[in-house]
Amino acid sequence: MSERVLVTSALPYANGPIHFGHIVGAYLPADVYVRFRRMLGDDVHYVCGTDEHGVAITLKAEQAGQSYESYVDHWHAVIRDSLARLGIEFDCFTGTAHHRNPYHRELAQQFFLDLQANGYLAERTEEQFYSERSQRFLPDRYVEGTCYHCGHEKARGDECPSCGRFLDARRLKDPRSTIDGSVPVLKATTHWYLDLARARDEWLRAWFESKGADWKPNVRNFVLGDLDELRERAITRDLPWGVPVPAPGSDGKVLYVWFDAPIGYLSISRQYWEARGEPARFEEFWKSADTKLFHFIGKDNITFHAVVFPAMLRGTGAGWILPENVPANEFFNLEGRKFNTSSGWFVPAESVADDPTDALRYALCTMMPETADSEWTWEEYRSRVNDDLADNLGNFATRTLRFVERFFDAAIPALGELTPADRELFDTAEAARDELVGHLHAFRFRQACRALTALGNACNRYYDQAEPWLKVKDDAQRPRAAQVMRVCAEMIGSIAVLSAPVMPATSATLLRALGHVGAPPRFDAIGAAAAQTGRLLPVGAVVGAPLTAAFPKFTDDQGREKSALFLKIAEERVKKELERLRTRADHPVATAPATSAAPAAAIEPLAPGIEFDAFAAVDMRAGTIVAADRHPRADRLLVLSVDLGFETRTICAGVAAAYTPDELIGRRVIAVANLAARKLRGIESCGMLLATDDAEGKPRFLAPDPATPNGARVS
Ligand code: 2FM
Ligand code: ZN
Repeated sequence: MSERVLVTSALPYANGPIHFGHIVGAYLPADVYVRFRRMLGDDVHYVCGTDEHGVAITLKAEQAGQSYESYVDHWHAVIRDSLARLGIEFDCFTGTAHHRNPYHRELAQQFFLDLQANGYLAERTEEQFYSERSQRFLPDRYVEGTCYHCGHEKARGDECPSCGRFLDARRLKDPRSTIDGSVPVLKATTHWYLDLARARDEWLRAWFESKGADWKPNVRNFVLGDLDELRERAITRDLPWGVPVPAPGSDGKVLYVWFDAPIGYLSISRQYWEARGEPARFEEFWKSADTKLFHFIGKDNITFHAVVFPAMLRGTGAGWILPENVPANEFFNLEGRKFNTSSGWFVPAESVADDPTDALRYALCTMMPETADSEWTWEEYRSRVNDDLADNLGNFATRTLRFVERFFDAAIPALGELTPADRELFDTAEAARDELVGHLHAFRFRQACRALTALGNACNRYYDQAEPWLKVKDDAQRPRAAQVMRVCAEMIGSIAVLSAPVMPATSATLLRALGHVGAPPRFDAIGAAAAQTGRLLPVGAVVGAPLTAAFPKFTDDQGREKSALFLKIAEERVKKELERLRTRADHPVATAPATSAAPAAAIEPLAPGIEFDAFAAVDMRAGTIVAADRHPRADRLLVLSVDLGFETRTICAGVAAAYTPDELIGRRVIAVANLAARKLRGIESCGMLLATDDAEGKPRFLAPDPATPNGARVS
């Protein structure tokens, strides 16, 4: 029976790029699961968006000198594009900022009021750090000091990045304000606290013990540990950006980002169904016991999704449903170390720009940190693409279609009576289907990939043992060669169906190559019985697409044109990527951005006038800085990779006095794109970025409007 399914992925913070670690934690598994459930005929909706409030965003926008709105707009667009690059398709992707989602504020405030009315919120006045210089409170990371657990000197008010512990800002040694460097004072302020222990004792523990019994062990154990140590949590902050606290006399106070962010799942759903002209479906989904709600998240979000958010949902008494499952993944590393964009330890977009999305999706699924931490290595990527995709699945599809093209005029032969070997292969395909379906239901994406490649191996074995290349040349045995090809074509169809959740584009290509028309087949199109009734391929002769039309063309190392489903990755590429990774990481970046006011500089006299043609000859394009490093041989220069939409360029800019490399990642810029390249201290610079001097005479980049895509021409 068709089920009503609502899937969410953790709302990424709109304050930086997302990397493979995020993708593999919360977005790719959700996308695969959504595609899978749709293939089962379920009514599935997948919503997400950016998390656009909180101290980190407020602080970074202020440091960048941007309005909060334009700061989050920029990152919203960057993140949306990165997710699209990996083929992650949402039904709705918006966010939590008021200008992007008009329902969010109202809904979050209603949660607060409902929880307050039901006695879950305690209001208390306590002392917090305050900057007299800036005349504002210093919540969370607005204050820094020495950790009272481990002695780390740059511990934040909320958390220590060195020992990972939550901190009470008031106990930090040598506290200082991160916005103005002043020593803060303690000042009384009122906040609201969520009584989680009450929820736990009244119903939350019992709910979790029954519901969570089927959850992944890594999640279950984490939550059980949490439930024992639940403490009250402040759900408000003194901040200028966020959802205003709906209580009298609370000017300047907003809801804590972790309170309002998960409510984003509801407000984005509401926005989605309003936009579709079906507003009633919002409550129909979120208040119906029949809806199965799944939150795909990374390990660091487990507490909020499995404990705090359920406590909020039920605490309102409004009838919101609780999650069916929270299939959280563990951490994903890169070549043995944590992903870290600002220190260069990540996989840059340009490194995988030419790789098929499906190859990346497949490889990432095989490496997924489902129950323990795992990592991306370039060598493993190469093995998965070469061994599983090119040599196994791709080879089987290519050899079959090439054979049919050459010996049967690209017309897939009709199915005859099955021999025991044929039947055995059909049975293997059915077993692979059952395995894969079981694994995907249980969020075992790695094993689902293994079920697929095991079928590929069985198909290649069948082909080898059947020796169609000998039989086709012998008139008496030619019918058997035809039957083998038909069985192999059925298997290509089976592989297409089974690979659809992980590799949707490949699945479509394979089906096209078989001449399959109409809606993509369901899982029950696999097997001998289905083949007899033409559920996958129509009964009788089927004309497939010629090989070169079905698969992309390429030339091999002898310059011969070939066709293949997947191209192999050369060993050289792995070496090159590892070198690039280490070079980026060998140029460590500083973190503290410079901020201070200075007297205004004198206005420079206007240059002599020019004709319009002289201006029109300069081709300026909107772009985004995607990587930044210090120049190894020039202190003044930074080496920037700038995404111009149509390509990513290296441009050296003399801005090291004004910016640290890490604060430039993601910065929008305008590039003079048709300027002749020139070498600057040994590094070729292909273009120039527009900048103007600030009051201190330091160069500052000019930025295009956030709505402008990379590559747009300035005119
Ligand atoms: O960890 C994060 O990136 C958070 N922005 C996730 C929020 S998930 C949900 F609650 F919105
Ligand atoms: Zn510490």
